[in-house]
Amino acid sequence: MSKITISKLNKMKQDGEKIAMLTSYDASFTRIAEQAGVDVLLVGDSLGMVVQGQESTLPVSVGDMVYHTACVARVAERAMVIADMPFMSHGTPTQALDTAGRLMKEGGAHMVKIEGGAPQVETVRHLTERAVPVCAHLGLLPQSIHQIGGYRVQAREEAAAERLLKDALALQKAGAQMLVLECIPALLAAEVARALDIPVIGIGAGADVDGQVLVLYDMLGISVNKVPSFAHNFLQESGGSISGAIGSYVDAVRKRNFPGKEHTLA
Ligand code: KIV
Repeated sequence: MSKITISKLNKMKQDGEKIAMLTSYDASFTRIAEQAGVDVLLVGDSLGMVVQGQESTLPVSVGDMVYHTACVARVAERAMVIADMPFMSHGTPTQALDTAGRLMKEGGAHMVKIEGGAPQVETVRHLTERAVPVCAHLGLLPQSIHQIGGYRVQAREEAAAERLLKDALALQKAGAQMLVLECIPALLAAEVARALDIPVIGIGAGADVDGQVLVLYDMLGISVNKVPSFAHNFLQESGGSISGAIGSYVDAVRKRNFPGKEHTLA
């Protein structure tokens, strides 16, 4: 079983092979997801909502992220493990480096993910120049939920779309090695994926990107929160088998059957 590295993910992008990414927060689901062929495991701060029952991701602490990242990284044998930098843990480049250091050294993460555009460029450069691989995150930023005022499609207007593309290019230039695009129009996501050399992973961003990510509990239909319209319940169609559901998700991403038109935002 060969390990998933950033070089392998870059090659998948170049070859047009879709990347299957899924959130995971513990050892048992990680084992199942790996056996189902998931390429990248994201220890998302969505754990605040789906595991802890919080109203948003804001209360999640660095300690929570380190704990769950370690639970995942301990058993992950093939997949790349990415850990989210939680709210208020990356306000300055120095603080971000401390957080990333903990997620990698204590948690065992291979990469960290940071929400935000232009204001994060300096931080991304600071981290990547110090051997911390970074995945950027643009579009709907759950850590900014009180500024945005709701979980809704972002960058619909021309000016916001142009800004997002500009930010994506700047983050790549600063050293980001992957980008997550959340809840933006499919045409914009496709344009960003074409413009960037690094893998672009979508969630609610249409099919024409380099891979997909979903929140595990959403795609199993077991989340306590409202499940977004761009998610799909793979457990239902797999007769209640968790490994079957995750396997179907990986297969649907690889064969470009997910997301379909019904999961795509304009
Ligand atoms: O926290 C998370 O699970 C995420 C995904 C929604 C991309 O950031």
